[in-house]
Amino acid sequence: MWMDTKARLLPDVITGPDQDFAASVIDGLSLPRKSLPCRFFYDARGSELFEEITRLPEYYPTRAEIAILETYAAEMAGNTVENAVLVELGSGSSRKTEILLGSLRGLAAYVPIDVSQSALAEAKQRLSGSFPTLPVRPIIGDFSQRLALPEDLASAEKLGFFPGSTIGNFPPPAASALLAAMRELLSPDGRLIVGVDLKKDARALVQAYNDAQGVTADFNLNLLARVNRELDGSFDLACFRHEAIYNPREGRIEMHLVSCKDQAASVRGRWFWFHAGETIHTENSYKYTIGQFQELARTAGWHRGRVWTDAGKLFSVHELVVG
Ligand code: SAH
Ligand code: AVI
Repeated sequence: MWMDTKARLLPDVITGPDQDFAASVIDGLSLPRKSLPCRFFYDARGSELFEEITRLPEYYPTRAEIAILETYAAEMAGNTVENAVLVELGSGSSRKTEILLGSLRGLAAYVPIDVSQSALAEAKQRLSGSFPTLPVRPIIGDFSQRLALPEDLASAEKLGFFPGSTIGNFPPPAASALLAAMRELLSPDGRLIVGVDLKKDARALVQAYNDAQGVTADFNLNLLARVNRELDGSFDLACFRHEAIYNPREGRIEMHLVSCKDQAASVRGRWFWFHAGETIHTENSYKYTIGQFQELARTAGWHRGRVWTDAGKLFSVHELVVG
């Protein structure tokens, strides 16, 4: 039975605290083409580095999406009823949410869902100052594993919020499955507001993921630092370098960590071998045209609603409706 007072103090948890970090790392490094799931970027240091990325001159998506939210938040809020629940996937700092919250009145709860415990705790603390009467009920865990709300909120009308183009970090079939799970969660009368980065000149895209100050490189390398910290790893961070490329066939930015020499590294006593130039694929960031994303949402059972973009047409925010 869900206890409301307890919920205000303690976040709910979808998966165990280490979110299968060890098993995922060992599985990913055992593949013929080594890869690691990008959700593991976000330990406390990774969440801090992501916030730094959002302030970089090259990383346009945050600025563009904030501009859209600042202009259209009232339209996005629409006629959301009082006592509705705002559910956000990958909420991070919840800075964008604050803009939307400014146009929503009398919410029963705001439910941010994220793997990053530190980001959720900081956001909850800040929101208690800016929106003191709003019940904030965080859920820690991988939103692609299971999506469910505390029982006492299940029957409320729901508004979904999924900003940042985090949907672009999933390959289209997985993105469609996640959107379908979101539709089920928000049914029967919910809407979803989802931020999607747009296809554009490959040079601008590569620069956004390969900034001059090297913050994105630190963000990428922090994944190996995290393996060293948490899984007794032996990665030599000086011998892996960050790489970001645009793959035009797949329509995605790929981030890799490239081994600078033949070397071995251990994780919890298991050894993995790397050839010079071999990469660990750490992230995909798919880019869409407006039409491509609407088609993806359709495959997940959503009806398309309004679409908002910034003046430079760099980024899009889509309204999806259950039906
Ligand atoms: N919404 C914020 C943050 C985007 S960064 C913004 O738009 O700026 C992506 C966020 O999603 C991070 O906070 C990360 O911890 C979270 N995240 C990534 N994959 C996740 C997953 N599978 N389950 C839950 N949270 C995830
Ligand atoms: C969270 N996600 C949408 C970001 C992106 O743009 O793919 C993560 C990121 N990776 C490198 N820079 C930012």
